[in-house]
Amino acid sequence: MEIRLWRELLVPYELAVKELVMKFNQLKKEHKEKDLYCPIEQVSGRVKSINSILEKMQRKNVSWDELEEKIEDIAGIRVICQFYEDIEIVADIIRRRSDMKVLEIKDYLTHTKASGYRSYHMIIAYHTETLEGKKEIRAEIQIRTLAMNFWATIEHSLQYKYKGNMPPHLTERLSRAADSILQLDEEMSSVRNEVMDAQNSMIHESNVVADILNNIENLYHYSNKREVAKIQDEFYRIYQTKNLENLERFHRELDIIAEGYRAQALTFELDGKS
Ligand code: GTP
Ligand code: MG
Repeated sequence: MEIRLWRELLVPYELAVKELVMKFNQLKKEHKEKDLYCPIEQVSGRVKSINSILEKMQRKNVSWDELEEKIEDIAGIRVICQFYEDIEIVADIIRRRSDMKVLEIKDYLTHTKASGYRSYHMIIAYHTETLEGKKEIRAEIQIRTLAMNFWATIEHSLQYKYKGNMPPHLTERLSRAADSILQLDEEMSSVRNEVMDAQNSMIHESNVVADILNNIENLYHYSNKREVAKIQDEFYRIYQTKNLENLERFHRELDIIAEGYRAQALTFELDGKS
């Protein structure tokens, strides 16, 4: 390949990053809609800059023709989880998908790098479709906790600053910080169940409230404004009690009322037609 074609080379990678980020965000949405705790906290993606690609090609002695085969992280996705246990859940979701074929695993969780780096990497094959046709590309998915990401971000900046010649006292500090990160993740894991419960309730409450408001909005079409205003006041009163059970009860009652109005409206419509 000629260097002048690099922009074109990156097109399918740009598409893949956009699609993959969208797909992981969709998973977050699906969890929320189903009132489920989501193992994914954040998703980001990037196409490797041409500067980093060139640097890696030189470092690993890779030619332009071997570029797409040997540099696996031209398309990079990062999935951040709250807890250590979530990483395996995300990895499992990826393994089960038919649109992401896992080619390689780099498990820096059980095999921590000398630097102290911890993360779970999956190299996948992914199909893209551009004007040029169908193309299978590789992408690197990094899965790690918020805490691991914090460490890796700081360490990466220092690596960049010292260009591989980090002073020993800094390496030592980073290594100690990595130990603290490990401890922090363990500590957080011990409250995971409680946090999951709390987050599940939060998602559930937010879905219940959205449902209630939807119903009230629909009632404006079927019922008279005074009736709806009364229902709305009742909703505010119950909402202020901050009691989820009360909200749920109101939700169920409102469903029945709304159903009644809908049936009435329907009969009315049918009567009108006969
Ligand atoms: P490069 O490290 O990019 O040359 O890739 P590689 O082919 O050697 O694969 P490796 O699995 O070692 O690294 C892949 C990616 O993981 C890197 O591009 C970084 O994003 C991240 N990574 C690996 N090691 C470290 C590390 O020690 N510190 C930090 N901050 N990130 C790392
Ligand atoms: Mg490396």
